[in-house]
Amino acid sequence: MSTSSLEIIYDKCATSRIEEVDFQNIEFGKIYSDHMFTVDYKDGEWKNPVVGPYRQLSFNPSTSVLHYGQSIFEGLKAYRSKSGEIRLFRAEDNARRFNQSAIRMCMPEIPVDLFMQGLRELVKLDSNWIPKEPGSSLYVRPFMIATDEYIGVRPSSTYKFIIFTCPVGAYYTEPLRVKIELEYSRSANGGCGYAKAAGNYAGALYPAKLANNAGYHQLIWTDSSTHEYIEESGTMNILFMINGVLYSPAPSGTILDGITRRSVVEVAKSWGVPYKKGPISVKMIEDALRKGEVEEAFGAGTAATIAQIHTIGHDGIDYELPPIEKRKFSNKVYNFLENLKRGEEKDSFGWVEVIN
Ligand code: COI
Repeated sequence: MSTSSLEIIYDKCATSRIEEVDFQNIEFGKIYSDHMFTVDYKDGEWKNPVVGPYRQLSFNPSTSVLHYGQSIFEGLKAYRSKSGEIRLFRAEDNARRFNQSAIRMCMPEIPVDLFMQGLRELVKLDSNWIPKEPGSSLYVRPFMIATDEYIGVRPSSTYKFIIFTCPVGAYYTEPLRVKIELEYSRSANGGCGYAKAAGNYAGALYPAKLANNAGYHQLIWTDSSTHEYIEESGTMNILFMINGVLYSPAPSGTILDGITRRSVVEVAKSWGVPYKKGPISVKMIEDALRKGEVEEAFGAGTAATIAQIHTIGHDGIDYELPPIEKRKFSNKVYNFLENLKRGEEKDSFGWVEVIN
């Protein structure tokens, strides 16, 4: 579908809320920039693209998304370079993945050019909100919800696509304790685990809460049929460095195809680091943990960036991993990607779009 005829309407805030923000102490996901981008899907087409004030939405109680969960989202980040450039990291990959989620959830795809146009305009308008502090960035949350006022079970015929942004610091503020989950499942074969569907996250909350109560930050999910293979960690993909080889479960129908994970693997390959993609059995990880061969374990995600894992719990035993400062690969790849995103490392992969 062509969107060349769609012109964005601007409805700018009269006053900005930015003065209220303490950029030295930003907690993830609690502060929202002045504007948002909205566009509606109706009668088989996208219409009314608006960049307007970040504001409350109101819905009739029968609105479809509230009952049957047709809701998908993305997460990406914008950075500011020292010279003042606004830099988006792999945003078109997010737009494409968004559409894979849309197809799976029976929602309309949004043309990548419309997604990108709204994103660029929004980030440009709220560019003052991109934090300059090291380790912080402007988190961008595109999402789509079903808006039919109808409680019969069928795909909605109307939708709202929204992008809002928030200045963020680290999602995880300390090295993680994670537990290999052997009872509950995040996703099953033929399900929608690869989609960034809201329900995948809702279903993970209860097992994650049990893990939190037992002293872990997060779970490492395993496959739902046998619980013998490692999948992902819910808020991030997972990677291990074992005897100098980088391992990560391959994206599949049950695992989100993470853009940060993909970037880490592409960088590792370019550095000549040996890489093996899954399947990765729990047994293999357990054996390596017992023998002290797991040199590094970390999560990779947009929000999580590279999140160091300090402890892995399995079958009642907590295995401690080597100190963070000894982890050559994950520290190096973290610094490399952070510098590339901020324009301090050459972008030879072509992952950054400069938008001003
Ligand atoms: C992201 O990394 O952007 C995500 O969507 C994970 C989210 C659950 C915080």
